[in-house]
Parts: sequence; structure tokens; C-alpha cells
Amino acid sequence: MGIEDLKNKKIAVLCGGISGEREVSLRSGKRVFDSIVSQGLNAVLIDTKEDFIPVLRQHKIGLACIMLHGTYGEDGAIQGLLEVLGIPYTGSKVLASALGMNKVASKRVWESQNIPTPKYIAIDPFESIEKQCDRIKNIFPFPLVVKPVSEGSSLGVTILTNDKDLVKTVKDAVEKFRDVFIEEFISGVQVTVGVIGTGNDLKALPVLELRPKSEFYDYNAKYTKGMTQFIIPAGLPKLVYSKVQQTAIDAFKAIGCHGFARIDMIVDSDGTPYVHDANTIPGMTDLSDLPAQAQSDGMSYDELVIRILESAL
Ligand SMILES: Nc1ncnc2c1ncn2[C@@H]1O[C@H](COP(=O)(O)OP(=O)(O)O)[C@@H](O)[C@H]1O
Ligand SMILES: [Mg+2]
Repeated sequence: MGIEDLKNKKIAVLCGGISGEREVSLRSGKRVFDSIVSQGLNAVLIDTKEDFIPVLRQHKIGLACIMLHGTYGEDGAIQGLLEVLGIPYTGSKVLASALGMNKVASKRVWESQNIPTPKYIAIDPFESIEKQCDRIKNIFPFPLVVKPVSEGSSLGVTILTNDKDLVKTVKDAVEKFRDVFIEEFISGVQVTVGVIGTGNDLKALPVLELRPKSEFYDYNAKYTKGMTQFIIPAGLPKLVYSKVQQTAIDAFKAIGCHGFARIDMIVDSDGTPYVHDANTIPGMTDLSDLPAQAQSDGMSYDELVIRILESAL
């Protein structure tokens, strides 16, 4: 399959939407749309915040390129809708999207496959937060991480160094996100690895190391130029480097991802990569990690876009 199979299809690049990552998605979508058009393919850019189903019909869309992040875009919802409408779409299918978006579900899958992931406790939003926090304090040493189960872009992620603000932080997070969990803090090298391919034909791209100038890789560090130092390929010992790439492939496969995804890990001082996040629709802006990883492997942005489109066929 190649660009020829894509030429006779009208492609819809879906972006924007209603999630907390709307702004990033608009940028990813526009950049991908420009690349598709510049390669002589026929595309429309559609913001799914609008009533977009009639637009899909009106344009007789033959392939949807989903560049949505977060709720309704990355979580299986739009994937299910496109299945029902009979429109082929890029990337992971319904189940893998839903699993990947839910960090607790992902972690349960990784644990069951012996893929290292930080220890965690899910917060029950309907039980006393005080009691749960008391229990957590007895199990986890500080620092620890409070995270929403289904967000991205570091939204709602808080690192606590002592128990002073634990109850309040968890309460606020439950109020805002409802489903929240506590994760063991892993100190080490932060890396992210793009994986592309389908079935057993999977390839891990070069390992990207992230050195945020802020306390951790928060929203600001992610989307402000100069707030993070990127090192690619990461300066890890050779054996650790290949273990990180293999772990990314294992984590991708365990969730059942398809086409492309980015796996976030922290490599501790023993060289163990702890998987903490699967991004089934990673950012595709000019500053995003996946295009940088592809580039470092000799794959241009445009070639990466074609690979992503082919995952729909
Ligand atoms: N267990 C952890 N230990 C240390 N830092 C963490 C941990 N989990 C997350 N972080 C930090 O928070 C950032 C965002 O968390 P992540 O799990 O990647 O969620 P998302 O990117 O979906 O918001 C990470 O890139 C990392 O900087
Ligand atoms: Mg992440």
C-alpha cells in the first residue's frame, strides 16, 4: 500500500473537539492537513466541535484521519462512531483507544503482561477521601503523584512531596475529574518512544529523552518552546536503550494499539523502564515528539503522515 491507494479517497482530518487538549489538537490537525494537501491528496479539515456528521456525508469521506486528543477523540468514542458510519480511520480501534485513554485500565493490562509500571492505587470517588489518603500514606512513601485516570497533556497531574496537601489535592482532583489515582513517583530519566506499524510488523522509533526545566513535564513544559530540553537519541547505555524500545513495543502490543502511538516511560537508576502513559493519538505539531522521533530515524513529517494514513486501509 502507498500513496496511490490514498489518491482516490476524500480524507477528513478530524481535529479540535471538546477535550481539554482542543488547542493542541487544532494545531496537530492543521499541520497534518497541510502535509496531506501538499502531497497532492484530497482532504478537508473538520472541527468535531461542530455538527460534523452531515459534513462527513456531504463530502463523501472515504478515510478519516483522527487528530483529536483526549475525550471523544482518543478514547474510542469517535472510533466507534466511524465504525458505525462505515468510514475507515487511522490509528487504534475502539478497544485499544479506550484502554489507552484510561491509565488505570492500561496499567492493569501492563501488570498482567509483566510490563513494569509504577505502583498505584485507584481512588474510589464514592468513599471517604480522608480514609483512603490515610491508607495511602501507610503504603506509599512521598513523593507521590496524583493523576486523573483519563486526561492527557499533564492536565491535573500533581506531584506531592509530603502529606500536607494530600487530602485537598485528591479532593480537588476527584471534584474536577471524578476518576483519580495515586501513583508511586519514579525518579529517573524521562523518555518517550514512538511505535509505528501494524500486527507484528512494529518498529520503535529512536528514544527521545525529555529534560523539563520545570519541576516535571507539565503542560507548560510540553507546549512552550524552550521549556524542555530534548535529547534524541537519548544518552542511555546501549542495553538499556534497546530495553526501552522493546518495552515500548510490548506496551503498545499489550494494549492492542494499531498504526502509531507514543509510549511514555521513566527509566530508573537500575535501567528499568516504567511505562506510565500510552498516547494512542500523539501530538503532530511541529514541536511534537513523534515527528521529531521519525525525523531522527530519517523519516520526514510527510512520510510519517502517509504511514499514519495507511494504518486506516
Ligand atoms: N509515576 C511518576 N513518577 C514521576 N513523574 C511522573 C510520574 N507519572 C507522571 N509523571 C510526570 O507527569 C507527566 C505527565 O504524566 P503522564 O502519565 O505522562 O500523563 P499525561 O501525559 O497523559 O498527562 C510525565 O511526563 C512526567 O513528567
Ligand atoms: Mg504523557
